[in-house]
Amino acid sequence: MSSPAKTREISHPALWSVGLLAAAGAMGWVFFHWLDVGMLHGRDAGRIDFAPKAAAAPIDHPALIADRSPAVLERGQQLYLKNCASCHGPNGDQNMTGSSPAPRNLKKDAYKAEWGGGPYGFFLTLTKGWGQGMPGFTNLDAADRYAVAHFVRETWQKPQPIYIADDKPEIQAQIPRPGAVAEGPRTPPHLVEQHAKLHPLMAVAAREGEARATAARAWLSEAAGGAETAERRLLARIAKTPARHAGWLVQLHEAARTGDRARVVVVLISADSGDPSLALEPAASIDAAAGVLVAAAGQKA
Ligand code: HEC
Repeated sequence: MSSPAKTREISHPALWSVGLLAAAGAMGWVFFHWLDVGMLHGRDAGRIDFAPKAAAAPIDHPALIADRSPAVLERGQQLYLKNCASCHGPNGDQNMTGSSPAPRNLKKDAYKAEWGGGPYGFFLTLTKGWGQGMPGFTNLDAADRYAVAHFVRETWQKPQPIYIADDKPEIQAQIPRPGAVAEGPRTPPHLVEQHAKLHPLMAVAAREGEARATAARAWLSEAAGGAETAERRLLARIAKTPARHAGWLVQLHEAARTGDRARVVVVLISADSGDPSLALEPAASIDAAAGVLVAAAGQKA
C-alpha cells in the first residue's frame, strides 16, 4: 500500500523527550495532588472531636499577678521541682548541668533579662526563655507559669536584695490589660499605599479612619478595664469580640462623646454592632453600660 506520497511520520528524539517529560509531569502532579488531599483532608475526615477546644481564654494578668496565696505557692513549688530543679537544683541555688553560662542561682544572682525579675518579668522569662540554655515553658499554662514565678520570688527571693514586689513601672506598662480591645480588621498597609497612588486624599482618609478607630479602641478598653461590675463585664465582652468592625466602634465613640446616653444605647443595640445578642440584654444593663461609656468619653474629651 505504500505510496511515495505517504505523509512523513513525525518522529524526533526531542519530541519524544518533551512528550515523555510532559506525561511524567502530569502523572507526578496527579500523584502529589491527591497525596496532599489525602494527607491534609482525608486524614481527619469522619474523625469525631470529643473535646472541641474552647477559644483560648484571655489571660487575666493583673489577677494572676495579685494571687500569691499559699495554694498558688504550693502549686508553684510542685511545678518547680518537676520543671526547674533538674537545672537549677532542688533549692534553686545549684548548677546541676555543669553548663556555662550556669543556670542562675535563683536565691541571690541578679537578673540579666531586660524585663527584670518582677512578677511579669519572671513570667516573660518563663514564656520566652532567656539567654543560653534557659528554655521557655509554654507547655505550662499562664497560671502555672505565674505560680512558679511566685514560688521562687516569694519564698526564696523575698529576703534578698534582688527581690522587688512589683515590676518596674515601664515593665508594668507592658502588662496586657483584661479589658483590652481585640484587634479588629484593619486596612492593610499595602492597600493604603495603593490608594495613595490613586489619589492622595484616599490615603488621608484611610489614615484618618485608622486614627479614629485607634482612639475608639483605646477609649473602649479604658472604659471596660476598671473595677469589675456587671456593666464592665458587658463592655469587656464587647471589647473582646475580634470581628467588631472599626466603623461601629467609631460611631459608638462619637455618640458617647456627645454625652447623649440614649444615643449610645441606640448604637449599642443597633444591627451594626454585629452582635444581635446585645439587643437582647436587659434594658437596664445596656443603659448602665452606656453610662460608663459616656463617663469614660467625658474624661478623655
Ligand atoms: C535546661 C536547663 C534549665 C531548666 C530546665 C530551667 N532553667 Fe532557668 N536557666 C538555665 C540557664 C542555663 C540560665 C542562664 C541563661 C543565661 O545566663 O544565658 C537560666 C536562667 C534562669 C533565670 C534568669 C533570667 C535572667 O533574667 O537572668 C530564671 C529566673 C530562671 N532560669 C528560672 C527558671 C525556672 C523557674 C525554671 C523552671 C520553670 C527554669 N529556670 C528551668 C537553665 C535552665
